[in-house]
Amino acid sequence: ALPYDLAGRRIVVTAGGTREPLDPVRFLGNRSSGRQGYALALVAAARGADVTLIAANTDLLDPPGVTVRRVGSALELQHALLGELAGAGGSGVDAVVMNAAVADFRPSIVADHKIKKVSGAGTEPAAAGTAPAEPAETGPGRTEPAEAGRSIALTENPDILRGLVRARAAGELTIGVIVGFAAETGDQQTSALDFGRAKLARKGSDVLVVNEVSGGQGFEVADNAAVVLQNPDTTAPGEPLQRQLARGPKALIGAAVCDLIAQRLRPDAGS
Ligand code: PMT
Repeated sequence: ALPYDLAGRRIVVTAGGTREPLDPVRFLGNRSSGRQGYALALVAAARGADVTLIAANTDLLDPPGVTVRRVGSALELQHALLGELAGAGGSGVDAVVMNAAVADFRPSIVADHKIKKVSGAGTEPAAAGTAPAEPAETGPGRTEPAEAGRSIALTENPDILRGLVRARAAGELTIGVIVGFAAETGDQQTSALDFGRAKLARKGSDVLVVNEVSGGQGFEVADNAAVVLQNPDTTAPGEPLQRQLARGPKALIGAAVCDLIAQRLRPDAGS
């Protein structure tokens, strides 16, 4: 049987991938399906937690016993999350799990009509705010070089996770445990795990679950493997700062994260 060690705990989980609109039919997005976040939310609810799931662009069924709020973009996700945290009679939440893949940037201008490929005599104008359109055909069988240089101006999205850490430190939000996830790929100099360590230091969450996502791992599929990193500044002495979780169903990764949340919320934790 599952432990009932999250009874009465209020946990907010984000899942899925944000979509940053370009025009009414296009967006910048990513491959997150929401499976990992949904699995974690379901496990937390089965262990007694009052779970709200903020789901960005997923097509999964609502997990039973979980309150689901649907969002599209990073700014919508931030708005929904802050609304959840400000609710609860101001008493805050026991844990936030930022599993969603949040876009770091969004198009600076969202066209209110579909951006056209071609502009020129007899064709529709390009959307306001797009780069100058390619030249139209100039004669039978002859087309000017096109497409080169067409670009999308981007604006940085807020770093929601880092914002939570800062707001908690400033006493503006009450959050027991802040968990981030990181989808990392290594390169020739730096391993995915080292990128994860640097990300934990930058973001300052209590826990960062690092998924190695090269070669099609992590996103969309049913299984996941992860290394769980704990922040040395907020972890009780003697607790492990790094733990490898074996490859397995996303529910098992979710359960391991729930173990850590339950342990960190125990009244004697850190004493
Ligand atoms: O959904 P699945 O198909 O099951 O795939 C699961 C997963 C691989 C997407 C998931 O387990 C995962 O790793 N999620 C985090 C992916 C990610 O966006 O990593 P990141 O390195 O870009 O961001 C790190 C952390 O900062 C995340 O907690 C993210 O929510 C948060 N973030 C990122 C950008 C931003 N502007 N604000 C944020 O809060």
